[in-house]
Amino acid sequence: MGVTKHRAQKHDPAISAQAYEPRGAAEELFYSHEREVLLAGPAGTGKTRAALEKMFLCMQKYSSMRCLLARKTRVSLTQSALVTLEEKVLPAGHSISRGATRGRRTGYVLENGSELVLGGLDNADRVMSSEYDMILACEATELTLSDWEKLLTRLRHGIMPYQQAVAECNPSHPGHWLNVRANAGLMRRLVSRHEDNPIFFDRQTGLYTLAGQTYRATLERLSGVRRKRLLDGLWAAPEGLVYETFADHIISVTGADEQELDNAMPACAGLDWGWRDPTAVVVGVLRPDQRLYVVEEFYARRLPLEELAERVAALLKRWNVERCFADRSRPDLINLMRRHDVPCENAPLVSIAAGISLVESRFLADKLKIYSSCHHLIQEASEYQYAADESQKAGAAVQPGSDHAMDALRYMLTGLEIVMQCGNVSDPPDPHAPPVAAPSRDAHGRTFADVWGA
Ligand SMILES: Nc1ncnc2c1ncn2[C@@H]1O[C@H](COP(=O)(O)OP(=O)(O)OP(=O)(O)O)[C@@H](O)[C@H]1O
Ligand SMILES: [Mg+2]
Repeated sequence: MGVTKHRAQKHDPAISAQAYEPRGAAEELFYSHEREVLLAGPAGTGKTRAALEKMFLCMQKYSSMRCLLARKTRVSLTQSALVTLEEKVLPAGHSISRGATRGRRTGYVLENGSELVLGGLDNADRVMSSEYDMILACEATELTLSDWEKLLTRLRHGIMPYQQAVAECNPSHPGHWLNVRANAGLMRRLVSRHEDNPIFFDRQTGLYTLAGQTYRATLERLSGVRRKRLLDGLWAAPEGLVYETFADHIISVTGADEQELDNAMPACAGLDWGWRDPTAVVVGVLRPDQRLYVVEEFYARRLPLEELAERVAALLKRWNVERCFADRSRPDLINLMRRHDVPCENAPLVSIAAGISLVESRFLADKLKIYSSCHHLIQEASEYQYAADESQKAGAAVQPGSDHAMDALRYMLTGLEIVMQCGNVSDPPDPHAPPVAAPSRDAHGRTFADVWGA
């Protein structure tokens, strides 16, 4: 971007400038013009510093540009990126860091009219009320895909010759939407390393500095998945995951076209009740490639029952869901759903182990795909582990934790299995249940059972 030897000239020449020299992934970031960039790597590799330096440089270079520095919450920004910004990036004593204290600051304005807005996705309205040339999302793994997509809609200020959103973070689990999005080619991926940080690595000697050795020794003492992510920079899953290949089956989908296409396909759902825990619903659509696509999820706690029923009914109607297989523990709620015209029925009485093996065998046969927007389902799968005692594995003893969407997924697939085998679930229908509406048909006039039973 035409920076002399990549050195960020500080705005006020009277202030002694501390040179910053980007290296490795940081240098690539300085020259990248892609609309979406993922800058990820181990802890302490200089990701935040690099992204902030580029942002400040652009503010000086392009008068009247606007940029947004965001994190999941505004409070978390104060103790992290803002410290680096004010103590390392902005020239000491520069007028723009005077005034409000760090926690109360809403932004900075340069004399050339360029503006840096600070915001948290916890106050999205404020963040979204403006347009930007550049957006930096710190610790971006905290954001949901929907947060990111909302931010992208604000990337249209048009002062800089290119508009760019940078997500910087340590790696998380392999199915995280950021990793999936970069794998799908929707983001440029930059991988930072400790060798990029001159505090930790001496290029002249080709060795880690004392500070680098000490820091890496700390990271080496971490255990398991945290070590893989923070020392080795891998998008790693914990040991003992129930669905080991889950992340390979997540797909990045954008645009309404896809949704319209899916809307005409046979659909089913799985439902797990909760009150203090969430109620989770997953919707699966069968495409002509004979794969089941989990296209949308519902996940909510403590909803009044009528509202719950209405919201689930609206979701299932939108996808023309014909059969919804629910946790058997609440027949009263199944009846409530039916009163809202939801085609809800008991999930088959199948052990957890058998349900898991059904889900797993669909993954192995490449017949089950998950949309990356199903945030809670993916998050749960990334932590859904067998109990440490291997002897329990045969009984599918899973570690206690969040498994509500996991259960909903299992109910959907066990229900489907029965439908495919015999056309209906094994329980006799409830004689008191209201009559179920005539089955809807897809664009080819086929009912759900026609397709699934085939
Ligand atoms: N090119 C550089 N020149 C001088 N100092 C640097 C450079 N890159 C990074 N640093 C310094 O190294 C330290 C760690 O950098 P930074 O906080 O950006 O790392 P990070 O990758 O964001 O870490 P984390 O993963 O913990 O968020 C900071 O003090 C930063 O100022
Ligand atoms: Mg950082």
